[in-house]
Amino acid sequence: MKKFTSVCVLIFLAVWIAPSFESKEKGEIIAFAAAGPSANLESVARGGLLYDTWWKVVPGATEPKQDHPLWSSQTTNKRKGSVTWRCKECHGWDYKGKDGAYGSGSRYTGFAGIWAGAQKNSVDELAAILRGSSNAAHNFSSVLRPSDMTDLANFLKHGLINMAQHIDYKTKKPIGGDASRGKAQYSVCGACHGPDGKKLNFGSQKQPEYVNTIAKANPQEFLHKTWVGQPGSNPAMPAALVLGWNLKQVVDVLAYAQTLSEK
Ligand code: HEC
Ligand code: HEC
Repeated sequence: MKKFTSVCVLIFLAVWIAPSFESKEKGEIIAFAAAGPSANLESVARGGLLYDTWWKVVPGATEPKQDHPLWSSQTTNKRKGSVTWRCKECHGWDYKGKDGAYGSGSRYTGFAGIWAGAQKNSVDELAAILRGSSNAAHNFSSVLRPSDMTDLANFLKHGLINMAQHIDYKTKKPIGGDASRGKAQYSVCGACHGPDGKKLNFGSQKQPEYVNTIAKANPQEFLHKTWVGQPGSNPAMPAALVLGWNLKQVVDVLAYAQTLSEK
């Protein structure tokens, strides 16, 4: 009888606890934002680094000198050389190309975004696009290895942030960012960037550029880089995505970083 009771208790506990475990797990996967349960987060984050500046991430790669073959099909963005090979230069930090932040200004090219294509295509199809399946001039096989293309495709499928949901494009302020929560999260960043954000200067002595500067000037770039990391940085900047943060936490840090002085 005693045994029967304890079995009953066990069954009761199992039935009672199991759903709450399950829903917690589901909730977390959703909170992990775009990253789906089957995606390898490190591959997704590495894909994001490649999207930023692939030659800083691919072993042995050299920075291109000539313009990308597709670059001459536009005349509005006057930049030259290696930048024309960055995915972000043509498709934007918000992945929306001409329909996003690069829809005007000196970076306007008229090139389409990848947002819709990333939703619509499978990981394999996205990797094929990087081998020129839809446009021979969009073949990156001479500079990227198959594994790099897989990482990029995983990023496109599972790592993209819907920036317009998190940033007001007019004011450049985060939507729903909580600066006081962000302050607590920022302690992770402060270990390298300093408590005031000024320990690392990416600009020059005369024209300093701090994490604070990017937060205000280009919040889309800030979210992308905080989510996946900074290519080739030394020490290596961790990807919030791999640390297990959700997008809300990243947006909170953006809100806090915008309160830090730029001077
Ligand atoms: C020199 C500019 C340029 C660069 C650099 C570039 N692309 Fe593209 N990309 C294009 C153009 C142009 C298209 C075709 C858009 C269209 O369908 O009109 C395109 C299409 C795509 C598509 C298909 C979008 C869709 O909706 O079907 C994906 C995905 C893509 N690019 C990803 C990337 C990735 C990842 C990189 C970096 C490795 C990259 N691109 C680098 C210009 C560029
Ligand atoms: C382990 C050290 C480290 C940590 C932790 C770290 N970073 Fe970084 N971060 C760097 C380095 C190094 C660079 C590149 C500096 C350079 O290029 O001169 C960088 C670059 C950046 C950039 C890009 C600036 C640019 O102009 O390209 C942003 C944005 C940024 N970090 C934000 C953050 C945020 C937000 C956090 C916390 C979530 C964080 N970092 C945590 C080391 C770190």
